[in-house]
This record gives sequence, structure tokens and C-alpha cells, in this order.
Amino acid sequence: MDNSGCRRRRQRVVLFPIPFQGHINPMLQLANILHSNGFSITILHTNFNSAYTSNYPHFTFRPILDNDPKINNLSKLGSRGAGDILSGVVLLNQYGDESLRQELDQMLMASKQEQEPIVCLITDALWYFTQSVADSLKLPRIVLRTSSLLCFLVFASVPFLDDQGYFKQVNSLFDEEIIDSDLKNIILASDENKFKKAGSSKSVKDLEERVLEIPVLKVKDISKMKIKGQTDPSAKILANMVTQTKASSGIIWNSFKELEELELEKIHKEFPIPSFLIGPFHKYFPASFSSLLKPDRSFFTWLDEQAPNSVLYISFGSASQMEKQDFMEVAHGLASSKQKFLWVMREGFVKGSEWIEGLPDGFLDLVGERGRIVKWAPQQEVLAHRATGAFWTHSGWNSTLESICEGVPMICSPFWGDQPINARFISDVLKVGVYLENGWEREEIEGTIRRVMVEEEREGIRERAMCLKEKVNVSLMKGGSSYESLGSLVGYISSL
Ligand code: UDX
Repeated sequence: MDNSGCRRRRQRVVLFPIPFQGHINPMLQLANILHSNGFSITILHTNFNSAYTSNYPHFTFRPILDNDPKINNLSKLGSRGAGDILSGVVLLNQYGDESLRQELDQMLMASKQEQEPIVCLITDALWYFTQSVADSLKLPRIVLRTSSLLCFLVFASVPFLDDQGYFKQVNSLFDEEIIDSDLKNIILASDENKFKKAGSSKSVKDLEERVLEIPVLKVKDISKMKIKGQTDPSAKILANMVTQTKASSGIIWNSFKELEELELEKIHKEFPIPSFLIGPFHKYFPASFSSLLKPDRSFFTWLDEQAPNSVLYISFGSASQMEKQDFMEVAHGLASSKQKFLWVMREGFVKGSEWIEGLPDGFLDLVGERGRIVKWAPQQEVLAHRATGAFWTHSGWNSTLESICEGVPMICSPFWGDQPINARFISDVLKVGVYLENGWEREEIEGTIRRVMVEEEREGIRERAMCLKEKVNVSLMKGGSSYESLGSLVGYISSL
């Protein structure tokens, strides 16, 4: 949809992404969607992770938050794992208030003189501190939630699920602390609504049981979120996100109605603010424009020569990290599956390694013969390639949507956060993928790859995936749900 021809006074929208790849992509795509619907765009960004800005000459960029020495610590964190991301989110929420207020105040004053009113602020849902700043300036704030509706509902239910005993045995299931202890203290010290004391848990649940209140999920999916219950610092971040989303003027979702009809009904009940499902965003504008890493394209000559649906594309997203022994299992399973592959291995993806130096002896002989390894790929193009037969993914929401849109079946290996929720949804509800749910074990890996790539089962999965791809296309056409919802969003923002 493009309403840019409409004769209305130009209005400016200010957008503020969380500075990590999986959050930058959808926010910049949304900015492009709004721009092509007649809005002027300002992007607030940290200098940290801002390599993409030169690809958007039609936007105004304003750096923010980097001057505070505490926030400078962010660049030391990097963005290699869940801990770095969560710590970054905490730091910025903690110290961002004053900088954002000053920046927006100046922009609001200037916009009055420029006859181009700023109508709203759109921020990532994880920027929970921005709600009170926007309120104090009487500027409506709309939230962009970059993951699924289902995942938001689960995150909103963490305290309830904890009270019901679903987190009870989680502490024994993983001992990795994903937030470092200094930050943990910051979060807990600033907690004005102290957590309820844990311990009201009713019973220990069987990990294979379904969660009664959210039957899509199994109990073990909750443990894989790597939250240790409502007293966990990550749970505090999520609780703040949920509260401040409720206080906002609306939610934009990178999803579409036909994908999450039941969840949408619940969202309407539990979050009675306007909701706009206008996705998948990358169907309007590709993610590659906001890539922080330079994609390797050298493998395309090889990929072009491969038979249709014969190559397994493997990528575990922008922030997950793997243990060395798991990496060995993946390599062995892949080798014995005898399938062709294109494997994205980010630098630092394997803990304690620079890159792929830990591969088992002989594995590199396969690379060249039946596979390629790259540091970063133009993912959307790979998924759209006729040779790509399946996607072994960490089930990040952007990757999930990109796969759905190309009708590519998935193998799901989630790491943390929303990913186990997405994986369960893909395998048990949509049935367009297989969940590799018992961890990293070479025989199971080999078997699962063969199920999805060559065995009879793959036909049913592929058929459902193609059916879902068709539904996406319909939703984006005139009269389709996403198309209409975008029209409503444009109208809503214009009316603010
Ligand atoms: C994480 C969460 O898991 C996700 O659900 C949340 O919404 C954002 O943070 P991330 O690990 O970044 O996400 O994965 P994902 O959401 O899949 O996003 C990765 C993005 O990087 C995708 O748009 C993908 O196309 C892109 N990508 C990935 C590349 O362009 N090249 C690659 O080689 C790998």
C-alpha cells in the first residue's frame, strides 16, 4: 500500500530501535513502510551497532545515549550472546531517560517551526523507559513488538506461570547466568515493585506435559526460555515491557492475522489498545539494507548449480552462541546426513573459538564437495533460492517469517527467549517444521535432516509450508488482513 499521493500535511514519525540485528531489521522495515505511506522519518540510534545508517538517505538519523559513560559500557559488551543483549537493554533503559527527553524536546520545538509536526514516537517494546518520557512530553508512543503475539502472551504470563509451579525445576536445568552480577544488582536495586516471593509454586511439573493455560506449549519450552521464574532479572525486563506496552497508544506487530488468529483474540482482551498486524515487514523491504555485517555472496555460483530443494540452509541468527561440544555434534550429524548444505557461522558463534577452527578432522573436505560455510549471508535471497530445500534455524522471529514467506520447511533448534516458543508453534501448530527438541546429538541431527530433506514426511511439510506462503501473499494484497491493517495504522497515526 502506498498512500504517499494523498494530499495531507506531511507528518514526522520518530522511531527508536533496540540496537541489535533482530530488532533493527523490523524497525527499519517499518520506517520504510511508513515513509512510503507519506510520513517523514527520524531514527534515533546509538552509535553502537549503527553501521546501516548510510543505506537510508531518505531518513534523518540522530545519535542518542552514547554520551553517558555508563552507556559507553555498551560497546564493550558487544552483541555475541543473550547476556550481552539483555545487559545492553538494561543499561540503556536504566540511563536513557534524560537524554531521550532532551532530544525529543529539541525535536518537538524545531518541528513546530518546520511545519512538520512530530505525531508519535515508535519504539521497540523492550524500550520500556520511553513511555514515561513520551507521557511527560505529551507525545503518543506506539510500540513495535518484533516477535510473535504468542510469545508476548507467554511473557505476560510469567508471574502467573511461576505461581502455578511451571518454573519450579528450571534452576536445576541450566546454570548459565545470562545477566552479569553487577547488572543484576542494578535491576534489583531499581525495582520499585519488589517481586512477589517465589515459593508459592504448587507442584513440580512433568517436562513433557502441556501447559494447561497455554496448551501450545510443553513445560520444557518454558524452561528453555532460560528465565528462572519471576524473580529472575530477565523476568523484570519482560514485566516492565508488558506494563509499559499496556500504557502505550498502540502495538504494531510483525505478524499477520491468519497466522495468529487465536492469539489476536487474546491480545484484544488482555491489551485493550489498538493492535496492528501489518507483517511480514520484509515483504515490503528486505532486511539486507539494515545488515550490520557484510553478507558473503561468493557461494551463489555454487548454489545456482544445485538441484531444486537439495540444499539445507543453516543459520542460528545474529546473537546465539554454541558450546564447543554441541558444535561437534552438529558437524558430525551434518556430515552423516549426506545432504548438501550452506552454513552461516558468525565469528564468535562457537564459545571460546574465533571461527570454525574447532571443526572435526576431515569436515572441511566436505566443504567444496557438498557444502559451503560463510560468516554471514543475504538470508532472504538464500531462502528464496530454488535450490534451498530446508532451513535449520534457531527460530528467531524474523528468520521464521522469512522462511514462511518462501514456503521453506524448517528444522528448529531454539537457544533462548522467544525462540523455544516459536519453535513449538512452527512444529506443533503450523506443522511446517520439525523441532529438534532433545538438544544437540549427532544421530538425532542426522535423522531429522533426512526426515526434512529426503524422506516421505517432507512432502506433507512442504505442502503445508507452500499453503502458508500463499496465505501470506493473500494477506498483503488489497483487501487482505495485513493490507487493511496497514491502512488503519496509517489513518491512526495521521489522526494523532
Ligand atoms: C532475536 C530473537 O530470537 C528474535 O525472535 C527477536 O525478535 C529478535 O532477537 P536474532 O537472533 O537476531 O533474533 O534472529 P532473527 O529474529 O531471526 O533475526 C536475524 C536477522 O538477521 C534476520 O532478518 C535474518 O535475515 C538476518 N540474517 C541472519 C542475515 O541477514 N544473514 C545471516 O547470515 C543470518
